[in-house]
Amino acid sequence: MMKGGQGKKLLWTNILCILLLQCLDLTIGAKVPAIIVFGDSSVDAGNNNFISTIARSNFQPYGRDFMGGRPTGRFSNGRIATDFLSEAFGIKPYIPAYLDTSYNISQFSTGVTFASAATGYDNATSDVLSVIPLWKQLEYYKEYQKKLGSYLGEKKAKETIAKAVYIVSLGTNDFLENYYTIPGRASQYTPREYQNFLAGIAENFVHKLYGLGAKKISLGGLPPMGCLPLERTTNFAGGNDCVSNYNNIALEFNDKLNKLTTKLKKDLPGIRLVFSNPYDILLSIVKKPAQYGFQVTSMACCATGMFEMGYACSRAGIFSCMDASRYVFWDSFHPTEKTNGIVANYLMKNTLAQFFH
Ligand SMILES: *[C@@H]1O[C@H](CO)[C@@H](O)[C@H](O)[C@H]1NC(C)=O
Ligand SMILES: *[C@@H]1O[C@H](CO)[C@@H](O)[C@H](O)[C@H]1NC(C)=O
Repeated sequence: MMKGGQGKKLLWTNILCILLLQCLDLTIGAKVPAIIVFGDSSVDAGNNNFISTIARSNFQPYGRDFMGGRPTGRFSNGRIATDFLSEAFGIKPYIPAYLDTSYNISQFSTGVTFASAATGYDNATSDVLSVIPLWKQLEYYKEYQKKLGSYLGEKKAKETIAKAVYIVSLGTNDFLENYYTIPGRASQYTPREYQNFLAGIAENFVHKLYGLGAKKISLGGLPPMGCLPLERTTNFAGGNDCVSNYNNIALEFNDKLNKLTTKLKKDLPGIRLVFSNPYDILLSIVKKPAQYGFQVTSMACCATGMFEMGYACSRAGIFSCMDASRYVFWDSFHPTEKTNGIVANYLMKNTLAQFFH
């Protein structure tokens, strides 16, 4: 039992710490040294600029609200969720792309993304637009570990690897770009079997990442993908409402990933795995935009707001909206910077803040 005075002091320290999130850093002393990211366009900061694919966004009007109005290859008018997360962890305001030669290991040592727009868990998804498959992202990560070792020294590099936060965010393309769009997977698997196939790949990926020394891992869930403007525009029968079938698939798959997280925590000693689910917050924004300061949710800012993304967004860019912060979506498939910030903040509060210590 604790003496009264000590107990009170501890209580006050706790209250202070709740008021000042940074306190967790100071009291426990275990800072997050780096954010390391794998995934698709939700978290790609421009890796696709350096490979041969049409899945790109390194041109105007993309990035028009990014620092200096620079189109970096992020599929947004500004920053993406992982940029906000990096800032929230007190590291830096954005996370650079691994293949971008204007950065080096010094900058990558505090954060790096291996993500590639249009990729998925399934190799067949990354094949559709010749982007970087997930297994290849892990190969790049192994190369990064070697570089980190020579830059920081083996001991410090090991520590960085163990204390870094790993963000994994993909899966939407497996369904919307692959399963429901091109023939192949749909003739091999029912939607449920396909979900199990993808969850198996996710499980294997977390095993490998853990085997390489990662501990604090966030496995991302799917958004309400039936509410993306592209899906709404083509929902002729449903009066341009959200496509409920796609939203249901996302809910089912998220449930699988959530259960997988529980299982992996039993299987892998010492892992700090969380399931980060953006579904509810995004659906809430789409359904009640005014509560979050938005005016438009069914159409995107860029071009006509109905179909365009990537090069199509660029070509018709003169039709883009003036103020992206009034819009939930930037192009027909991706949120605006403002939405990304709200989602990042939500995930930070609900699942990721525990990684401070
Ligand atoms: C990385 O780039 C920065 C800025 O361009 C430079 O100052 C630094 O010396 C470089 N570091 C390494 C390890 O190459
Ligand atoms: C994806 O491709 C890589 C490289 O060819 C291979 O090692 C891996 O087993 C494939 N994944 C699946 C699930 O087939």
